[in-house]
Amino acid sequence: MPKGKRTVLLTGGTGFIGRRLVKKLLLQKQTQIYLVVRRSSFSKVERMIESLMLTFPDAPERIHIVSGDLSKPTLLESTVEATELQKKVQEIFHLAAHYELGISREDAIKANVDGTLHMLNFARGCEKLNCVHYVSTLAVAGDYKGVWHEDMLLAGQQFDNHYAYTKFLAEVEVREAAEELPIAIYRPGVVVGDSTTGEMDKIDGPYYLLVPFMKIQALTRSISPVIPTFFPLAPGGTYIKCHIVPVDYVVNCLDHISRKKGIEGKTFSLTDPNPVSMREFIDIFCDKAGWVRPIANVYTDPLVWALRLPGIKQLAQSLEPITNVPVEIVHYTAYATKYDTSNTLEFLKGSDITCPNIKTYAGKLLAYARRHFV
Ligand SMILES: NC(=O)c1ccc[n+]([C@@H]2O[C@H](COP(=O)([O-])OP(=O)(O)OC[C@H]3O[C@@H](n4cnc5c(N)ncnc54)[C@H](OP(=O)(O)O)[C@@H]3O)[C@@H](O)[C@H]2O)c1
Repeated sequence: MPKGKRTVLLTGGTGFIGRRLVKKLLLQKQTQIYLVVRRSSFSKVERMIESLMLTFPDAPERIHIVSGDLSKPTLLESTVEATELQKKVQEIFHLAAHYELGISREDAIKANVDGTLHMLNFARGCEKLNCVHYVSTLAVAGDYKGVWHEDMLLAGQQFDNHYAYTKFLAEVEVREAAEELPIAIYRPGVVVGDSTTGEMDKIDGPYYLLVPFMKIQALTRSISPVIPTFFPLAPGGTYIKCHIVPVDYVVNCLDHISRKKGIEGKTFSLTDPNPVSMREFIDIFCDKAGWVRPIANVYTDPLVWALRLPGIKQLAQSLEPITNVPVEIVHYTAYATKYDTSNTLEFLKGSDITCPNIKTYAGKLLAYARRHFV
């Protein structure tokens, strides 16, 4: 990537990962940022820019809000504005997606597949394009058993939710487009809060497992501090790896790797290169939170198979209003995938960016979740 002036167009800049990436981009003084934002989120992005001004007084001059939506074939609302921007945009970061495990197939296709095709169409018209940075997900590996190398995509894997399947379909399109466009693909794992502050947007991924126990503990403590909280069983046990990654590592990688030369045509797994097992993950949180560790591991493969039988998933989904946990989460305690991160580690060489061990920041995640989600 060329040093100096950088004109970047970013989708998903108001999201969990995107907001942090915008901050990183602002650190590079000569970068101009065009944020594609839905009209309904204009007030949100204006508040975001106001708060950024505390650290970056020049944020309003360097962040330009552009009205757009993934559903628009030209990505932007105004075709005139799209044509103007295509004359100057050098890089596109595509983060916008409908990220929700329980999403319907139709909504997922519209946002994740059609939206990506619209972004690629926009990219094709960019006269000075250096690179499209496409944010995918490790979930494109589906239920693949074994080592998932970064260049893999079509491997006979199965999918158990529309979000993962449509991100997979979108990546197929992106790879095809990579034959004519300069594109780098980044696949984050299950993104959790910031490893330095614990900050997290919402209950998601492993928080679905942890927050109910925080609530039980809060309740029992209000009765008597000596009543213990038990974490009865460890789903996934020692065999299944826990592919969580803190958001700051994901954003540091995106920022660093996107500025490297020779990334076009490459895919980067953004996850912990040394993941702990599900059992270790639960034990770490039990120790930090003061819960009694599980008495046994439970392998959830039979549940995954059962959920694939006709009618069973619908039945399980009907319980979601009571459990507040999307049933799709079960699958992630059964997928025996191991993710290779060689490209990422290669391109991080010479930087001080490393993925922190979960033991070092589990306490921060817990403290933040206790304050905001319990
Ligand atoms: N979070 C994770 O654990 C995780 C893991 C792996 C990969 N990823 C990928 O990382 C990317 C960012 O995820 P995130 O966690 O930051 O998601 P997020 O917090 O849900 O943010 C989604 C972003 O996409 C925008 N968006 C959604 N629908 C849109 C539409 N129709 N038109 C324009 N913009 C739209 C949202 O804008 P509004 O503000 O208007 O809603 C928001 O800025 C996604 O591509 C996701 O698939 C996330």
